[in-house]
Amino acid sequence: MTYEMIEFTREGSVAKIRLNRPKALNALCNDMMKEVAHALAELETDDNIGCVILTGSDKAFAAGADIKEMQDNAYLDIYKNDPFEAYAGAIERFRKPIIAAVSGYALGGGCEIAMMCDFIIAADNAKFGQPEITLAVMPGIGGTQRLTKAVGKAKAMDMCLTGRMMDAEEAERAGLVSRIVPLDELQDEVMDAAKKIAAQSLPIAMMTKEAIDTSFETTLAQGIHFERRLFQSMFTTEDQKEGMLAFIEKRKPHFKNK
Ligand code: CAA
Repeated sequence: MTYEMIEFTREGSVAKIRLNRPKALNALCNDMMKEVAHALAELETDDNIGCVILTGSDKAFAAGADIKEMQDNAYLDIYKNDPFEAYAGAIERFRKPIIAAVSGYALGGGCEIAMMCDFIIAADNAKFGQPEITLAVMPGIGGTQRLTKAVGKAKAMDMCLTGRMMDAEEAERAGLVSRIVPLDELQDEVMDAAKKIAAQSLPIAMMTKEAIDTSFETTLAQGIHFERRLFQSMFTTEDQKEGMLAFIEKRKPHFKNK
């Protein structure tokens, strides 16, 4: 596939997908998101890739679903063809670690796809919001659910009912983002984090991600049971033997993803 609306690059074992529709502030049109889904499918099966970064421009991570593309839709158009399912599913079901590097606007669907990633690192100019109510719709790709789980009911109601934006400081205080960095350091900081993740054993990182994601779907007891079984299963891997031996021998581990 030729990528026209995203920049898709690799640096060692890290891949970066940069949304690239600057004139539309990276509004999530269907063609762009098909490219994202295609790139993720490629990365899922690429054994050399251990972590992915999803990012946008300095001004906009993404200003939401493409309003101009959506405006004329009839219910049956979006019910039968459900364009959100194709791309939201691709990010939600992506099994390797994926970080959102957010600068500028992350609004509506933009905030929602950032929240689908495993964590968000924000530049100090980031602005998050679910302003759909001002268009007489509501969040449609997980905003009412993921934002509530991330920041709690009070702030989620405030954001989704007033449509107001949250700046980076508030987003960090509320638990929506893991850290804030100056805008001109964002890409380097996220690349460093991605390289650290990609240097670990990939199956162990994938299982860690799966265990944390499971906490949103289960009771505490079921989640702890699942975690314990995964933990025990790790003792079947060569990487666990190597990781612990390397610690004992005071050297760096050499993981084989086995
Ligand atoms: N869809 C389509 N085009 C968009 C867009 C969007 N979500 N957001 C911005 N654009 C376009 C603008 O129409 C404009 O295009 P033209 O130059 O052709 O007019 C261009 O991007 C630049 O935008 P502005 O001139 O508005 O830039 P600004 O700096 O004055 O304002 C902004 C920036 C506050 C982000 C403003 O663009 C804005 O409010 N955008 C819409 C945000 C929004 O409502 N997002 C939710 C979309 S619905 C959704 O996402 C549903 C869901 O849950 C999946």
